[in-house]
Amino acid sequence: MTQEAQRFFINEDQQVLEEILLHRRDVRGNYFKKDPTSDENINRILQAALSALSIGFFQSREFVMIYNNETKEAIKASFQEDNTKSSHQFSDEKQQKYTQPKLEGNTESPLKVAVFYKPKNEPVLGQTSMPNMGKYSVVCAIQNMWLMARSLNIGMGWVSILVPEKVKTILNVPKENQLIGYLCFGYTDKFYHKPELEIKKWDYKKLQNEVVIQERY
Ligand SMILES: Cc1cc2nc3c(=O)[nH]c(=O)nc-3n(C[C@H](O)[C@H](O)[C@H](O)COP(=O)(O)O)c2cc1C
Repeated sequence: MTQEAQRFFINEDQQVLEEILLHRRDVRGNYFKKDPTSDENINRILQAALSALSIGFFQSREFVMIYNNETKEAIKASFQEDNTKSSHQFSDEKQQKYTQPKLEGNTESPLKVAVFYKPKNEPVLGQTSMPNMGKYSVVCAIQNMWLMARSLNIGMGWVSILVPEKVKTILNVPKENQLIGYLCFGYTDKFYHKPELEIKKWDYKKLQNEVVIQERY
């Protein structure tokens, strides 16, 4: 039996990965340019998603590619309805920051991708005691897309202030599928050096010693 040679990475590779991780940003709204992203690049981003780890090799993900403006507008309408309700849950000061147009970002980017969790009608290896593992696996695919997109200098944004059932109706999604992410893709000249919410003092970036616990709580 032939064995594929194992790939080892060198210092420069690790530095590139660290750079991509550090400069990955959530991009949205009027920060997207209208120029279409090439099919080749979109395929590379999709291939990155298909390389993601998944519980029991379940590969529980499906992707709806949305270029059509009418579809984007219909989903945007569902965003607007939900955003008004959501913003009232925050203090006045936060509401002002929250309602800035950046959050919307729905029609500007040339491509949207709705990512779904597709459950199985039979037990999944490894998922028997923690049923959410299939959904977490879909998020792993989304993170891979993000890193690949950033390496191609393509911006990506996650819009979660919407009504999943309405999105499902608009996209004619099978009943059992669950919406995990509604993502915007496009070129941008606004990759911030830090999270925008950090720059706008919504919150601060947590330090390692605040979130890493040695041995036990
Ligand atoms: C699951 C998830 C959902 C998100 N949904 C939204 C959203 O609806 N609107 C928004 O403006 N940002 C959304 N974000 C982006 C976060 O606000 C952003 O990742 C965070 O502020 C850190 O910024 P950075 O990604 O640029 O480092 C979402 C991020 C995640 C992980």
